[in-house]
Amino acid sequence: MEFSLINTQIQNFDGDCVVVFSNSEADFADANIQNLIELNHFESKAGSTLLLNLVDGFKAKQVIVLGMGDVANTAKNYIKALTVTSGVLNTIKSKSVMIEALEIEGFDEKWSHRIAARVLQNANYEIEKVGVEQKIEVIENIAIQSSNDNAHELTQGHAIASGMSLARHLGDLPSNICTPTFLADTAQSLAKEFNLECEVLEEADMSKLGMDSLLSVSKGSIEPPKLISLSYVGNGDAKPIVLVGKGVTFDSGGISLKPGAGMDEMKYDMCGAASVLGTMRAIAQIQPKINLTIVVPTVENMPAHNASKPGDVVTSMSGQTIEILNTDAEGRLILCDALTYVEKFNPKVVIDTATLTGAVIVALGKHHCGLMANDQDLADDLIAAGKSSLDTAWQLPLDDEYDELLKSNFADMGNIGGREAGSVTAACFLARYTQNYRWAHLDIAGTAWVSGAKKGATGRPVPLLTQYVLDQI
Ligand code: BES
Ligand code: MN
Ligand code: ZN
Repeated sequence: MEFSLINTQIQNFDGDCVVVFSNSEADFADANIQNLIELNHFESKAGSTLLLNLVDGFKAKQVIVLGMGDVANTAKNYIKALTVTSGVLNTIKSKSVMIEALEIEGFDEKWSHRIAARVLQNANYEIEKVGVEQKIEVIENIAIQSSNDNAHELTQGHAIASGMSLARHLGDLPSNICTPTFLADTAQSLAKEFNLECEVLEEADMSKLGMDSLLSVSKGSIEPPKLISLSYVGNGDAKPIVLVGKGVTFDSGGISLKPGAGMDEMKYDMCGAASVLGTMRAIAQIQPKINLTIVVPTVENMPAHNASKPGDVVTSMSGQTIEILNTDAEGRLILCDALTYVEKFNPKVVIDTATLTGAVIVALGKHHCGLMANDQDLADDLIAAGKSSLDTAWQLPLDDEYDELLKSNFADMGNIGGREAGSVTAACFLARYTQNYRWAHLDIAGTAWVSGAKKGATGRPVPLLTQYVLDQI
């Protein structure tokens, strides 16, 4: 699918289909279309569509009218409309499409170009089924009406969609395919494709570095653990932005075994890893003047005769000791060693993203990511990037009072803080390893995938992270 800008009247476009937007309270500029809207009693509700064939005065054979709700064109309705458009275009097998220009409340034209390319490309994502061939894309080119000829934003939107598609693909793969080794191979092929620096540490390397906290999670699994680093260098030797992604390719809970219902969804416990790989893909495609490093600690969390047991004490790479009170609080055990390891990159900032706690779903549901940080400017920048990419984060507190809940009689800290404020105590645990740099944590347990009939990965927070990185240029 290719995107371009086109400076022509909708009536003169001679491709397959023209897409136009309609408000419930304003007349449409083209009288023929206005008549057909009335004839069909089309109410222009947000997300509704009307397909018109052979409209007088139009060179294209088909016109799709998209409902945008009330007069103000909101960003949310724009995304809704574009998503359904993709479905209709595929059904009517349109190859070349023109989309009418539209002003969105609170955003500029560049934003709407970037979002259009991202949403339309992303709507074409298809779950790769084992043993089933992927369908070929129907839509070949989409031209967006504009008097501007700078298509840079379309490239960005397309790159973000391709990062999201990688993240969704990795998330949706079953854990018998998407293992830590598979994630390492994925990183290596990204490195080849985009000329990035890649390093993969094996179990023995990590053991030498003293990463016994990370290794305590993987030791009950037959799958070897990996620590992946991947760097994009676009700005000489400037300090890099470092993104760390939790890569638990399956979280059974370990000896503190999870209940059976819905346990399949713990294949998604590597969505933090998937999102930083996706962000790297987007950035490597856009090629901005910035340095970005991603680090992925990846393991499988399984019960076994040689697995960690509740009450075991381990020493992390930082030297701090941890009493593993619950083997299901494993994300923080792998992240803490990765967060110590990243100091070697002399990071400008460190942002980790992790499906860390069920508690964040109780607190925020499935709309916002949970955000916690040791630096308010960084938190504010991430909130802003979330708003402009429509991939939002909501900040939770990180006061010392919460940190006290991690007290242990047998080590420097326990790995759980009890029933209250589970997302915050998890972040307090991580904060003990991030004192030497500006750091933020995104808990994406509620936003990385959807359950139920439409079960699947969302590709979040690739848009937020990519936007944040681009905002730093
Ligand atoms: N991967 C889970 C968090 C999770 C749970 C994400 C449900 C999405 C849906 C994490 O490793 C975990 O098990 N966390 C525990 C922590 C608890 C033992 C302190 C949790 O949230 O129950
Ligand atoms: Mn767990
Ligand atoms: Zn987990």
